[in-house]
Amino acid sequence: MSILYQHSLLLLFLTPFHVVSQDNTNQNDQTTLLNLKNFWSNPPSLSHWNQSSNPCTSWPEITCTANTITGITIKQNITGVVPPFICDIKNLTHLDLSWNYFNEDFPTGLYNCTNLEFLDLSENYFVGRIPDDISRLSRELKYLSLLNNNFSGDIPVNISRFSKLTYLDLRQNLFNGSFPEEISNLNDLEELFLGFNDFKPSRLPHSFTRLKKLQTFIITEANLIGEIPGNLSGMVAMELLDLSVNRLEGSIPSDLFLLKNLKEVADPIRESLVVSFPYTGLYIMWVFPPSILETVKHESRSMDCHGTILSVVRLWRRASLVGASCVQDFVEHE
Ligand SMILES: *[C@@H]1O[C@H](CO)[C@@H](O)[C@H](O)[C@H]1NC(C)=O
Ligand SMILES: *[C@@H]1O[C@H](CO)[C@@H](O)[C@H](O)[C@H]1NC(C)=O
Ligand SMILES: *[C@@H]1O[C@H](CO)[C@@H](O)[C@H](O)[C@H]1NC(C)=O
Ligand SMILES: *[C@@H]1O[C@H](CO)[C@@H](O)[C@H](O)[C@H]1NC(C)=O
Ligand SMILES: *[C@@H]1O[C@H](CO)[C@@H](O)[C@H](O)[C@H]1NC(C)=O
Ligand SMILES: *[C@@H]1O[C@H](CO)[C@@H](O)[C@H](O)[C@H]1NC(C)=O
Ligand SMILES: *[C@@H]1O[C@H](CO)[C@@H](O)[C@H](O)[C@H]1NC(C)=O
Ligand SMILES: *[C@@H]1O[C@H](CO)[C@@H](O)[C@H](O)[C@H]1NC(C)=O
Repeated sequence: MSILYQHSLLLLFLTPFHVVSQDNTNQNDQTTLLNLKNFWSNPPSLSHWNQSSNPCTSWPEITCTANTITGITIKQNITGVVPPFICDIKNLTHLDLSWNYFNEDFPTGLYNCTNLEFLDLSENYFVGRIPDDISRLSRELKYLSLLNNNFSGDIPVNISRFSKLTYLDLRQNLFNGSFPEEISNLNDLEELFLGFNDFKPSRLPHSFTRLKKLQTFIITEANLIGEIPGNLSGMVAMELLDLSVNRLEGSIPSDLFLLKNLKEVADPIRESLVVSFPYTGLYIMWVFPPSILETVKHESRSMDCHGTILSVVRLWRRASLVGASCVQDFVEHE
């Protein structure tokens, strides 16, 4: 009797203690998220975030791994700034805050998110320079997108310190300085987007040809001058290369045609090139030498997804090539 009593006492004591301690980590993270919601003035889109529901199962914006909060995806027109306490969620690996109205300098508070692997701040109103000490962000970073913000100045050399980076998107900002040659140290880079920036006129660094895993490289409208590096054939993984609307000159290096992932190379309009790639539907690259730039700037040919020429069309200059699977998606008929 007394043994049984002692046992149930022990159980009574142990069980709740155990449950609370297991919940504690998540409860702290839940409190952090509720503070975040409050910090952003309780947007209606987050009204389902409350004390009594489980973020892992009831909040679609949150992802969990083994009951630990590891991901936040909020694309909700949120206004204001990104508070440093978001990094109190210690196991955060995935942070997607694209498509909001954040309007501040680069949120350096994120330096404390030491496990971050994925950071998407695209489609916001961030301003100022990317800080020179950007490398204080998590060294685990594999994906970084700052697409379509108002960042200006130079792209700092230390962006090349993220040795695990596979995806880097800096397109459509107000960068008016330079981009560092050291980007070529990012050995694992698979996709690189630098286009639609008003960089100081610069050459395409020869060292970029060292990026052997690069599959997609878009540097459209980025004030490139000089010649295209001659040893592009070393970029064995290349599937999509867009150098269009720059001030490149000289000839198109013949070893471009040795890139083994190119399916088809055609030359429908004198020196301009149409290149399609096998694995991603039809993509196109335009390289316009200055001698013919004026005459063909607004002209190319539309093709169907099998590479059949359909008609002469006008190039839609601002179109983004990424995500389009057929040429019809990014050209506009005359
Ligand atoms: C973070 O993950 C580790 C191991 O995956 C776990 O032991 C720890 O409790 C988690 N931390 C939080 C705050 O959930
Ligand atoms: C808490 O939010 C959940 C959905 O996440 C909802 O079903 C529940 O009614 C809410 N509870 C309270 C007390 O507001
Ligand atoms: C954000 O705003 C745009 C334009 O007002 C609207 O179309 C979209 O539905 C909004 N998104 C959310 C998640 O509220
Ligand atoms: C990181 O967190 C520590 C401790 O909370 C704080 O003192 C420091 O200012 C934070 N760093 C940044 C860059 O926010
Ligand atoms: C961002 O840049 C655009 C184009 O220069 C400008 O119209 C807009 O006011 C800027 N927005 C902010 C928040 O700086
Ligand atoms: C750039 O990275 C290096 C190596 O991590 C570091 O020593 C240096 O202080 C960083 N530069 C800045 C401006 O933070
Ligand atoms: C770059 O743009 C920023 C922001 O508009 C401006 O303050 C700066 O003077 C510009 N720098 C150059 C070299 O044009
Ligand atoms: C291309 O040439 C440059 C300089 O001539 C060199 O640094 C680079 O490693 C070469 N790339 C390949 C893939 O051979």
